[in-house]
Amino acid sequence: MSILSSFFSFLTHSLPQKQGKPGGEGSVLTLSLAEEPGDWSRLRRAQLLLLHEPEATEEFLDAVAAKAPDWLGDSDSLLLDAGRFLEGKTWAVPSISSKHLPRVLMVRPTRLTRQRLLKLYQSARKGIFQNTPCLNLDYSESHKILSKYSDYYYQAGLLISDFCNLKCRMCMFHSEDGTDYSFKDLRLPQPKTLMSLDTSRSYLEQLPPGTKVLFSAAGEVFVHKQAGEILEQARHLPIEPMVLTNGLLLDDERIDTILRVGLTNVIISVDGIDPETYRANRVGGELETVLANISRLRERARAAGAKVTIGVNMVMFQSFEGEISRILEFWRGKVDRVGFLAERLDHFGKPRKILTEHSPGIPYCFAPFEGPLLLSDGRIAPCCSVAISSWFIDMPWLYRLDRTPLQDAVRGYRRMLTDPNSPLRGICAACHFGDNSYWLGSRSPFGEIHELADPSAAPPGSIP
Ligand SMILES: C[S@@+](CC[C@H](N)C(=O)[O-])C[C@H]1O[C@@H](n2cnc3c(N)ncnc32)[C@H](O)[C@@H]1O
Ligand code: SF4
Repeated sequence: MSILSSFFSFLTHSLPQKQGKPGGEGSVLTLSLAEEPGDWSRLRRAQLLLLHEPEATEEFLDAVAAKAPDWLGDSDSLLLDAGRFLEGKTWAVPSISSKHLPRVLMVRPTRLTRQRLLKLYQSARKGIFQNTPCLNLDYSESHKILSKYSDYYYQAGLLISDFCNLKCRMCMFHSEDGTDYSFKDLRLPQPKTLMSLDTSRSYLEQLPPGTKVLFSAAGEVFVHKQAGEILEQARHLPIEPMVLTNGLLLDDERIDTILRVGLTNVIISVDGIDPETYRANRVGGELETVLANISRLRERARAAGAKVTIGVNMVMFQSFEGEISRILEFWRGKVDRVGFLAERLDHFGKPRKILTEHSPGIPYCFAPFEGPLLLSDGRIAPCCSVAISSWFIDMPWLYRLDRTPLQDAVRGYRRMLTDPNSPLRGICAACHFGDNSYWLGSRSPFGEIHELADPSAAPPGSIP
């Protein structure tokens, strides 16, 4: 998982997907991979996507289409590689899911006979697919489909500030540690900025309804004097706002804003559960302050009956290994969830430790299908890695929100993904963040989330 996945994917992967998201009103779309991209809204409308292969007869297509609504049931997305399923091959690794398309059942009809179709239908009726929303289609095929035909995304981010009140020792943006980490020496001497209210408003207003939106920073959100006003812009929009912060500036006024705006998640980065460790990692901060702020946020949320999930992010330093149980015990009763991020030593290198053993070594990155990020100066990044790269590599080809409508930028980046010579693919070639697309529940090779609160036992934001 990438570093900015803490901003982004990491926070939202384990959150339940909204059912019945707009865009699912269509019916059947048949598609051949040879087709040229054209109508970008087609996949947004599709409920059933059939990869059109020569073996699929019209009769077969009609039969699948007739059964599709039953198969899909209440799921947002269900991907069937029918051939593999029937051969009993592995299907634990999702490639396209409801993260990538709003509501779709995808079938590769290559070898489906009537008999097999019936078998599949019966299996689906038993709910076999309910816990695993999709089966494994080849990554290359999934990637091709999404980059050619889809402009759908389910989350978005804003990095509203380039400035910070800390100099955390592992931070790619503000660290001054040249011993363990190589970020400092590689940063470009670029002017740093604060996002303008016009820029944030324009971006937020262009986001599709239902989008999960993470307010964060290439620094700290709350050093932006107008952070409250920017958050307020989300208040009456049909989006799900969240914030990632170091938590040190969470005073009563900011907590009130968080509750008034109705943020669904507040994630606070706290790298250490004793004062010395915290101080050494989060240079310039004090554990006592952040713990007091978390506690006040929790109390006020409970008093207001606010449905806000409070989580902490911790970078998985070597020194934390063997400490996980103690760390989780420390946070129990204080927050709802704890996320561990694999520690990065530089921008493009693999992290020091992979957190799970399940990495399939995905050659195609799905991060750009999750959603764009707006940088503080109004440039749009297609993914977390590009957002971080903008601090290290000059990227004049990035779209700017004041010149390009957001959806056109999203499409433009997806077009670049299909072109091996595009500057975006140049970044992809050096990037390891693609493995970010691989998740099993709340676990990825580069991060994992531990839920501490039982949602059925206590409302989010309350003290169990
Ligand atoms: C760069 S910060 C920006 C937001 C905010 N200032 C904060 O600290 O949460 C985003 C996340 O990246 C994490 N992070 C920073 N340096 C990292 C590294 N070298 N490896 C992994 N995660 C890192 C931080 O702990 C934080 O959770
Ligand atoms: S608080 Fe966040 S942005 Fe600031 S130095 Fe620490 S990790 Fe970097």
